[in-house]
Amino acid sequence: MTRPAYWCLSSVLWLALALSFPAYASECLICHSAMKGRVVGPKGVEVQVHLDAKRYEQGVHGVLQCTDCHVGFTGGPHQPPQGKPPQDLAELLPFAALKARVDPLALAACSRCHPAQYEELRKGVHGENIFKKKQADAPLCLDCHGSPHYIGAEEEGSPVGHARVVETCGSCHENEEIVKKYNLPPYVLDKYRESFHGKKYILGHGGVPTCATCHGSHYITRAEAPDSPVKGQGLVATCGRCHEGATAKFAAAPAHKYIGKENPIPYYGEKLLILLVFGVFGFTVSHVLLEAWAEIRDRFLRGKGGSHE
Ligand code: HEC
Ligand code: HEC
Ligand code: HEC
Ligand code: HEC
Ligand code: HEC
Ligand code: HEC
Ligand code: HEC
Repeated sequence: MTRPAYWCLSSVLWLALALSFPAYASECLICHSAMKGRVVGPKGVEVQVHLDAKRYEQGVHGVLQCTDCHVGFTGGPHQPPQGKPPQDLAELLPFAALKARVDPLALAACSRCHPAQYEELRKGVHGENIFKKKQADAPLCLDCHGSPHYIGAEEEGSPVGHARVVETCGSCHENEEIVKKYNLPPYVLDKYRESFHGKKYILGHGGVPTCATCHGSHYITRAEAPDSPVKGQGLVATCGRCHEGATAKFAAAPAHKYIGKENPIPYYGEKLLILLVFGVFGFTVSHVLLEAWAEIRDRFLRGKGGSHE
C-alpha cells in the first residue's frame, strides 16, 4: 500500500471510530462503555468501570466532556490524577473526599456549574455536618441525586422527584444508626405516611407536600433556626403556599408528629392510655383465669379433698 493510500484508509477508520461515539466523551467511552464489571483501581477501591453511553447521552450532563467533572483525568489509558488540584476546587477537596469513593475532585467540580446549590447546601444543617463537623453522615450531591452520569435519564424517575424524594430523605432519616447518633426524630416516614398529606401521597396525589416542599432541598435548617420554614411565621408561610389564608392555629396541625418527652401532655397521655388498655386487659384475663381455677378447684380438688373427710 502506498503511503498516501495508507493515511487515507487509516484516517477513514479513525473517523468512523470517532463518529461511532458522540464526540464529547469519545476518548473516554471507547474504554468505559466497552468495559464491564468492577476493577480494583490504583487507590485500592473497587471501581464500577462501565458507563452506559446511551443513557449518559440522554441525561442532563450528556453534552458535557467527562473531564468537565473528572478534571484530573486526561486522555486514556490514564494515570490516577496527579499534581495540584485547580485552585477553585482545592478548598472543597478535603470535604468532597469525606463523601467520594473514587474521584473527590469530580464531586467538588459540581460547584463550578451549580454554585448556588453548593453554597445553599453548605450553609444548612447538612453542610454543617460535612463542612464544620467533618462527618460523612449528611448528604452531598450524589446521596440525593444518584449517579451524576444518568441524572435526567433514570427510568424509575428522578430520586429527587415528587414520587421518590420521600424515600430518598428516608434512606438516612429512617436509618437507625444516624437517627440515634444525631438524636433525630425516629419514624418520620411512618409518621408522614399517617398524616393527612402522606395518606394522599401514597395514593399518588401530585399536589401534597413532600419532605423537600416543607424543609427545602439544599438549604435545610434545624427546626428552631430563626429562618426555619417549619417553625413560627415560617411555618405559617409554608402551609400558606397551598392553604390560602393559613393561620398559626392551622399550621399547628401535625405534619408528621413524633410524640416525645418534650411534649409531656401527649407523651404521658399516650403512655397512660397504653397502661389503661393493658390494665383492663390484664384485669379481665386474670379474672377469667381465677374463675377457671375456682371451677377446677371446686369440681376436682375439693371433690378429692372431700373424700378424706
Ligand atoms: C484505555 C482504556 C481507558 C480509557 C481510554 C479511559 N479509561 Fe478510565 N479507567 C480505565 C480502567 C481500566 C479503569 C479502572 C482502574 C484504573 O483506574 O486503572 C478506569 C477507571 C476510571 C475512573 C475511576 C477512578 C480511578 O482512579 O480508578 C475514572 C473516574 C475514569 N476512569 C475516568 C476516565 C476518563 C474521564 C477518561 C477520559 C479522559 C477515561 N477514564 C479514559 C480505562 C480507561
Ligand atoms: C457531571 C459530572 C460528571 C461527568 C460529566 C462524568 N462523571 Fe464520572 N463521576 C462523577 C462523580 C462525581 C463520580 C463519583 C466520584 C466518587 O464517588 O468518588 C464519578 C464516577 C465515575 C467512575 C467510577 C464509578 C464508580 O462508582 O466506581 C467512572 C469510571 C467514571 N465516573 C467515568 C466517567 C466517564 C467515562 C465520563 C464521560 C462519559 C464521566 N465519568 C462523566 C462525575 C461525573
Ligand atoms: C461543566 C458544568 C457542569 C458540571 C461540572 C456539573 N453540571 Fe450539573 N448541569 C449542567 C448543565 C449544563 C445542566 C443542564 C441545565 C439545564 O438543563 O437547565 C445540568 C443539570 C443538572 C441537574 C438537573 C437540573 C434539572 O433541571 O433537573 C442536576 C441535579 C445537576 N446538574 C447536578 C450536578 C451534580 C451533582 C454535579 C457534580 C457531580 C454536576 N451537576 C456537575 C452542568 C454541569
Ligand atoms: C438533601 C437532598 C439534596 C442534596 C444533598 C442535593 N440536592 Fe440538588 N435537589 C434536591 C431536590 C429535592 C431538588 C428538586 C427541587 C425542586 O424540584 O424544586 C434538587 C434540584 C437540584 C437542581 C435543579 C435546580 C434547582 O435548584 O431546583 C440542581 C442543579 C441541583 N439540585 C444540584 C445539586 C448539587 C450540585 C448538589 C451538591 C452541592 C445538590 N444538588 C445536593 C435535593 C438535593
Ligand atoms: C407539611 C410539612 C412537612 C412535611 C411534608 C415534612 N415535614 Fe418534617 N417537619 C415539619 C414540621 C412542622 C416539623 C416540626 C418542627 C417542630 O419541632 O415544631 C418538622 C420536623 C422535622 C425534623 C426534625 C427537626 C428538628 O429540629 O427537630 C426532621 C428531621 C424532619 N422534619 C424531616 C422530615 C422528613 C424526612 C420528611 C419526609 C418524610 C418531612 N420532614 C416531611 C414539617 C414537614
Ligand atoms: C445521607 C443522609 C441524609 C439524607 C439523604 C438526608 N439527610 Fe437530613 N440529615 C442527615 C443528618 C446526618 C442530619 C443531622 C446533621 C447533624 O446534626 O450534624 C440531618 C438533619 C436534617 C434536619 C435537621 C434536624 C435537626 O436536628 O434539626 C432536617 C430538617 C433534615 N435533615 C431534612 C432532610 C430532608 C428534607 C431530606 C431530603 C430532601 C434529607 N434530610 C436527606 C442525613 C441525611
Ligand atoms: C404543596 C402544597 C401543600 C403544602 C405546602 C401544605 N399542604 Fe396541606 N394539603 C395539601 C393538599 C393537596 C391536601 C389535600 C387536599 C385534598 O385533596 O383534600 C392537603 C390537606 C391538608 C389537611 C387536611 C384537611 C384539608 O384541608 O383537606 C390539613 C389539615 C393540612 N393539609 C394541613 C397543612 C399544614 C398544617 C401545612 C403546613 C405545615 C400544610 N398543610 C402544607 C397541600 C399542601
